[in-house]
Amino acid sequence: MATVKKCLFPAAGYGTRFLPATKSMPKEMLPIVTKPLIQYGVEEAMEAGIVDMAIVTGRGKRALEDHFDISYELEHQIAGSDKESLLDETRAVMEQCTFSYTRQVEMKGLGHAISVGGRLIGREPFAVILADDYCVTEGVGVLSQMVTLYERFGCSVVAIEEVPREETFRYGVIAGEEEESGVIRITNMVEKPAPEAAPSNLAIIGRYVLTPEIFDILDDTPPGKNGEIQITDALLTQARRGGVIGCKFQGTRFDCGSVGGFIDATNYTFEKTQSE
Ligand code: G1P
Repeated sequence: MATVKKCLFPAAGYGTRFLPATKSMPKEMLPIVTKPLIQYGVEEAMEAGIVDMAIVTGRGKRALEDHFDISYELEHQIAGSDKESLLDETRAVMEQCTFSYTRQVEMKGLGHAISVGGRLIGREPFAVILADDYCVTEGVGVLSQMVTLYERFGCSVVAIEEVPREETFRYGVIAGEEEESGVIRITNMVEKPAPEAAPSNLAIIGRYVLTPEIFDILDDTPPGKNGEIQITDALLTQARRGGVIGCKFQGTRFDCGSVGGFIDATNYTFEKTQSE
C-alpha cells in the first residue's frame, strides 16, 4: 500500500471572524502564544512522518510562504544573541520539509480547495490539515493516529469527535457502525446539518487522510451546502463505494477559527509553557 507522504493545507479562507486582525494577515498566521497556527499544523504532519507540505493559498497570503523561508536581515540582526534560539523550531521545519504552493483563485468550498491542491499531490494518498483546528495530545499526534488507521484499513479516514447537539450546524456530521473501539465505519455524512436533521453528534474535525480516488469523486460532486463543493459530500460517495473510516482520536482539539476557541488554545498553551 502507498504511504502517506504529503499533507495538504487548505489556507485560502478569509478568516472573517478575526477581522480586523485578518484584514491583511492570513488567519493561519495568528499565533498561539508565539507560534503561528500553520506551524503547529506542519509540525503535526511531521510527527506523522510527512515532510512534503502542499499549501493552497489565496490573495493576501504571502506571509505563509515567507514564514517558511529565510529572513536574512532579521536573522543577521539576532545572530549570536539570546533571541536566535527562538527560530530553532522554524529552522528545523524548513530543513526537513519541502513546501509547495498553489492559489485557489475562487472560493468555491473546501472540496474545491482540495481539488485545486490535487495538482500538488498527484495520484497518492495524502493528509489534509485545517490549521485552525489546533490539536494537542499527550502522546501520539492526531494525524499520526489517523495514518496508522489508514495503513490498517487502506481507505480514507476522517477525524471525529462528539460535539453538543446544538452545534452540529458548524460541522460535517457522520453516522456509522463502531467497528472497533474508536473506529467507525461511516454510513452517512451531512454537511452542517441543523441539530434536528443531524444523523448523530459525531462531528468531523479538520484532519483527513484521503485516497486519491477522492479527486475523481470531487470532479463529479455538485455544489452542496452554501453552494460550495463540499468534501463531506465527496466522502459520502466514497463511503458508499468503498468505505471511509471515522477516527475518534485521542487528544484535545481547539477550534481556533472561533475567538473563544482561540483564547482557550492560547491559555492552555501558555500555561503549558509556564509549567515546562
Ligand atoms: C469544514 C468542513 C466541515 C468540518 C470542519 C472542521 O468546515 O466543511 O465538514 O466539520 O471544516 O473544522 P469549515 O469549518 O471550514 O466551515
